[in-house]
Amino acid sequence: MKVNSRKVAVIGCGFVGSSSAFALMQSGLFSEMVLIDADTKRAEGEAMDISHGISFARPMQIYAGNYNDITDAAIIVITAGANQKPDETRLDLIKKNAAIMKSIVGEIKKRDFGGILLIVSNPVDILTLIALKESGYPSNRVIGSGTVLDTGRFKYLLGEHLDVDSRSVHAFIIGEHGDSELAAWSNARIGGLKVNDFCELRGHFNHEQSMKKIFENVRNSAYEIIERKHATYYGIAMAVKRICEAIVRNEKSILPVSSLMTGEYGLNDVVLSIPAVVDETGVQKVIPIELNDEELTKLKDSANILKDIAKDYI
Ligand code: NAD
Ligand code: LAC
Repeated sequence: MKVNSRKVAVIGCGFVGSSSAFALMQSGLFSEMVLIDADTKRAEGEAMDISHGISFARPMQIYAGNYNDITDAAIIVITAGANQKPDETRLDLIKKNAAIMKSIVGEIKKRDFGGILLIVSNPVDILTLIALKESGYPSNRVIGSGTVLDTGRFKYLLGEHLDVDSRSVHAFIIGEHGDSELAAWSNARIGGLKVNDFCELRGHFNHEQSMKKIFENVRNSAYEIIERKHATYYGIAMAVKRICEAIVRNEKSILPVSSLMTGEYGLNDVVLSIPAVVDETGVQKVIPIELNDEELTKLKDSANILKDIAKDYI
């Protein structure tokens, strides 16, 4: 079916789905948004509530629908599934969420959908691989939000530490969106300067200690938030909006979305985050940024952790 580039669908209207829908409503990127949830009343309520913001934003149609309503969407954002409890890791969610992802993709696959699947539910890398295999779509059209959120957290914390606009920080968190992720420090630049050089410009000289602390803060962010408010949703909502923006505006932005590795760093058959050019086709090109030996080893370890769990669900 012909894709309507002004239409988006969100499947799963819990904390993450509803916050993403709210961010998308405010973005003005779409003129139609369909919300689906296993709890239909929930989807209806969210559609009503979010619609009441339209007169303060831009005209659009927002409604609770079914799978027949989303066939022509440009992007289907999937946020359905269980979230972490305070003592759980993202990987612990695989049992519950693999089955949910398979049933959702099964429904989409029955229709003639020609757009992009944007997977957000956790563990996002493995669920993206499942969505890719179940759908049979080309890999550019099945992408995960990956470490776009973690990279946002990283840029924010570095910006705070160095008293600089986080948008001037060019640095990536890569690998699993989860405990085995890593910071690509060797590649990071702030206003074109290497991180340590910029730090020294700001009077910071305890590089090792600060880098460790900032990365740990990034990696533990979700745990810290979940312990306090049981879920994370505003940061990811903005990340979803940013990815949708790159797609529908054909921006060719470089974002660390999660995508299928096809030989980059010697990795195959695994979905994880490496910066990629994102445009109207989805992942247009993975950019294998230069990593040092230590980072490369960590990336491979991260890939092995994902592969080991994924093999039981593919
Ligand atoms: P939530 O419990 O608030 O919402 C989940 C929703 O999914 C519920 O409304 C539920 O009814 C719905 N659902 C379940 N099965 C469904 C199905 N088969 N079809 C349609 N809807 C279905 O959870 P949440 O806090 O919104 O989190 C959702 C997911 O997003 C979790 O897996 C969480 O870990 C993940 N998450 C990912 C990121 C990221 O960066 N990728 C960030 C935050 C949360
Ligand atoms: C996050 C979720 C829980 O906020 O994946 O990172």
